[in-house]
Amino acid sequence: MATVRQLDPGTRRYTRHIVFELAHIIRERDIITYEHCRRVAVYASRLAREYGWSRRAAHDLALAGLVHDLGKNWMHNDILFKESALSNDERAEMERHPSIAANILHTYGAPKTLVQAVLHHHERYDGLGYPDHLAGEEIPLGARLLTVADVFDAITAERPYKRAMESITARDRIVAATGTHFDPAIVAAFVRLLDTHPNFLIPSRISPLPPRPAPHPVWMRHDHFDEE
Ligand SMILES: [Fe+2]
Repeated sequence: MATVRQLDPGTRRYTRHIVFELAHIIRERDIITYEHCRRVAVYASRLAREYGWSRRAAHDLALAGLVHDLGKNWMHNDILFKESALSNDERAEMERHPSIAANILHTYGAPKTLVQAVLHHHERYDGLGYPDHLAGEEIPLGARLLTVADVFDAITAERPYKRAMESITARDRIVAATGTHFDPAIVAAFVRLLDTHPNFLIPSRISPLPPRPAPHPVWMRHDHFDEE
């Protein structure tokens, strides 16, 4: 197998090679982020195909999905693994992750379209996202596709601090944010995809959370005491 030194930067083979190497680095640091990236890669490429992209372009977007959260590798453990809401300062630090990833990918010689999709995957259609507050079609199309796949997985995946939501609920949430968070034409393609593929959801490969504790017996519930 060729090493990165033997490959020509700018070729698709080179890009695949560096993306897989960087994805491996994500996996070494944080398996949850890696698994998220892996699912987003698949969701984004399926969505791109439904939207009308060629198989080749959709595959390139999958590579962007695989490393879209690479910048989280540079977050401090206290932020990356925090199980409660981030403070304002921590959130500001976390919001650097798309720029960090884009800088690394650019330095490695990744194609501009891939770098741009990663850099702008947290922009919103209404301009309220980050890092550059781009709006509407200013946001590269790859990033607009990636955003929908990213949010869908964030809602439907189980995390240490939250349980998974049904894909039907995620679908409703995404539809509700049409034109604000998401590009309407991309939401329409995503809804078509979900409606025609009942098994769209990729199961998590990470072991599930332990079962919830049994609910308190009725005599211990607050509403019982409230009635008195
Ligand atoms: Fe992200």
